[in-house]
Amino acid sequence: MLDRQSASQSSVVASLISNDCLNAHHRASPMRLGVLASGTGSNFQAIAEAIASRQLNASIQVVIYNNVGAGVSHRAAALGIPAILVDHREFSHREQLDEALISILHQHHVEWVIMAGWMRRVTDVLIRAFSGRMLNIHPSLLPSFPGIRAVEQALNANVAITGCTVHEVVLEVDQGPIVMQAAVPIESGDTVESLHRRIHTQEHHIYPLAIALAHGRSQVEATR
Ligand code: GRF
Repeated sequence: MLDRQSASQSSVVASLISNDCLNAHHRASPMRLGVLASGTGSNFQAIAEAIASRQLNASIQVVIYNNVGAGVSHRAAALGIPAILVDHREFSHREQLDEALISILHQHHVEWVIMAGWMRRVTDVLIRAFSGRMLNIHPSLLPSFPGIRAVEQALNANVAITGCTVHEVVLEVDQGPIVMQAAVPIESGDTVESLHRRIHTQEHHIYPLAIALAHGRSQVEATR
């Protein structure tokens, strides 16, 4: 089970972690997740592994990806998880793309949408359909360095510490309420690649924990 100790081992900024919420997550029915990903899918894999080891009480119902041959589709195939290509280039409006996503997510009985490197802006259409049940991970300590090339932005700004953030999804990109963060010190000689590698390691620690926490919190709130 994920707990405060595993959180501190991954240098999580853990002030928001509540064991009550984590206990509520593990008592509830398994979360039904739909993962949206555009690329490699290492966060998807970390979430799948956390489920397999029962750290996360969930199942991944479907993965939706938008780039032919994306690494995430191979990872999903290896794990026997359905992966569906929805190529954004086939839609003339963002809202149409989101309608297509909703239809697949509903077909697979998804409750929570987990954006794991989904490189498309989402619209109000998708956010309303999964209100309060959409999370994203971003490779910086938000509110610093939102938007694209966040790792490069941090390097160029000469900050000493960057990291990653799991947050709720709202219409404004990378601005939703923060669920969890982990800090990653920048080392001399770091390149975008070396720094992003260490950020990825922290992402893989905090994303499953943040998913459990957000779910547990919603369970606790529902009983108030
Ligand atoms: C991660 O760094 C995440 O923060 C960003 O996109 C990257 C996805 O990596 N949103 P992966 O595909 O999960 O390996």
